[in-house]
Amino acid sequence: MKDQNVTKAQDDVRIHVRQHYGQIAARTEVGGRSDCCTPDSRSESSCCSPGDVVPIDQVSQLYEAADVTNLPEDVTSLSLGCGDPVTLASLVPGQTVLDLGSGGGIDCFLAARRVGAGGSVIGVDMTPAMIDKARANKEKLGAANVEFRLGEIEHLPVADETADVVISNCVINLSPDKRQVFREAFRVLKPGGRLAVSDIVTDGPLPENIQRSLAAWAGCIAGALTVDDYLATIEAAGFVDVTLTPVYLDKAQIDSAVDQLDLEQAAAGEGDTLYQAVFSAKVAARKPVISA
Ligand SMILES: C[S@@+](CC[C@H](N)C(=O)[O-])C[C@H]1O[C@@H](n2cnc3c(N)ncnc32)[C@H](O)[C@@H]1O
Repeated sequence: MKDQNVTKAQDDVRIHVRQHYGQIAARTEVGGRSDCCTPDSRSESSCCSPGDVVPIDQVSQLYEAADVTNLPEDVTSLSLGCGDPVTLASLVPGQTVLDLGSGGGIDCFLAARRVGAGGSVIGVDMTPAMIDKARANKEKLGAANVEFRLGEIEHLPVADETADVVISNCVINLSPDKRQVFREAFRVLKPGGRLAVSDIVTDGPLPENIQRSLAAWAGCIAGALTVDDYLATIEAAGFVDVTLTPVYLDKAQIDSAVDQLDLEQAAAGEGDTLYQAVFSAKVAARKPVISA
């Protein structure tokens, strides 16, 4: 019975998250509106919360400006990440890269340039409208070495030991089953392959009302693990050399993001353990050449 409840809660999260990002993809036209995840330097908006179409100068704050200024606006306007996993990944020509939760495809296209014609990039996303946008962007860019597959990151439509590098940008926090996500990442990596992830984490448990809010899940807050849990979950999947580096800390910005989510009670009840910070982090790990 308890398991059924857990499954139901996980399904509710997945359905809500898919619906949320489907709406963003459907309504995002250049000159229209979209959502975005923003570093603290983006003053008015917050991670995955409603805002205007992401202007190129904001995208440039997340990435090296030179990497993104010549991308089409259809790509940059759907940039919903919270970091730059492509730079973290230190890709080299010829590699196969898998992007978990590829959205409009920005990291896939940046990775594709780095791995070159001899390499390839696969983006996986569970939201059909996002896959449609990403495929249209691929055509626009003529990115022959990129493909997009519809699927869940908990059940990757990718064969064992396919990827040299798995990247992901502000997505794993959205999964209600992160253990399964990291097990899948481990499965599809070649021996010695690497994980390079940007994601949202916390330094303490979030108030229960936030954890239960579907809006806060879709807003990249409710599903954020503590740093310790994040590291333990990756290690439990078999990864080694796991490192997590905070990119920025800004409690005021996250508090304002929580406010924007319109939660009836954003504050924890008396006696609850309050987080001090919700922040973006870059996370790296390696699959051992010989797994235990
Ligand atoms: C915040 S957006 C980030 C998109 C992209 N990584 C970027 O940086 O622009 C989250 C994306 O992850 C996808 N997503 C969320 N949960 C997922 C899951 N469990 N499996 C596959 N895709 C998922 C959503 O459909 C959405 O496109």
